[in-house]
Amino acid sequence: MSNQIELEFESERLRFRPLVVEDLDLAIEQWTDPEVTKYAGGKTYTKKELIAEMPNVVRRCAGGCIGVWCLTDKATNEKVGTAILLPMPVEEDDTNWDLVTGDEIPEGDIEIGYILKQAAWGSGYATEACTRLLQFAFEDSPLKIVVASIDAKNKASERVLLKSGLVPQGIIYSYGAMCPGFRITKSEWMENQMRDV
Ligand SMILES: CC(C)(COP(=O)(O)OP(=O)(O)OC[C@H]1O[C@@H](n2cnc3c(N)ncnc32)[C@H](O)[C@@H]1OP(=O)(O)O)[C@@H](O)C(=O)NCCC(=O)NCCS
Repeated sequence: MSNQIELEFESERLRFRPLVVEDLDLAIEQWTDPEVTKYAGGKTYTKKELIAEMPNVVRRCAGGCIGVWCLTDKATNEKVGTAILLPMPVEEDDTNWDLVTGDEIPEGDIEIGYILKQAAWGSGYATEACTRLLQFAFEDSPLKIVVASIDAKNKASERVLLKSGLVPQGIIYSYGAMCPGFRITKSEWMENQMRDV
């Protein structure tokens, strides 16, 4: 039996697969829209910048168990957004892609995140994606803890994290700033599964 981690999986309405450079169309839809980036770094990107950045963004490591996934709607095949398991930046204001390399999970916290194009907001997709990616993290990958941080004004994202079972940690230092932090351990996640049965 292969111990290769299966990186393609599904939730009720979404299909997850590793992001590839050909997903530039989705990246453009996400990262040129100031409403999307408002609480996700606050900066928009040009198509040229995104083309240059794609080889980094498709990087994976630790058997592929951390990186960026493309989310598509199973019913329409439409790309709706991305979800991540990546090293949490602390001093930096963006992912340190040099850490996303090799066979091991890098030192430090691994963050969960999601960015949907605006047309896909308000339908519960982010909660569905976060919930399913946590299942992947704790059932299929060696991760024992997953963290997150948000812009304090991003109430929708806070709601997504709480609905997905992450626990508030007060104000933490991440992305070079003080912001609300969250985390969930594998044992907390497993307890939640038992409770929800
Ligand atoms: C934040 C984001 C991921 C939410 O996606 P979504 O699919 O609309 O989220 P969901 O529908 O799963 O859940 C959103 C929840 O927040 C609630 N919500 C939305 N806007 C809110 C607001 N301004 N204040 C309080 N709650 C809000 C919704 O009612 C919903 O909760 P409910 O199911 O209890 O009613 C999406 O808006 C997005 O991609 N934004 C841009 C990128 C971003 O900010 N990503 C997160 C970076 S940390």
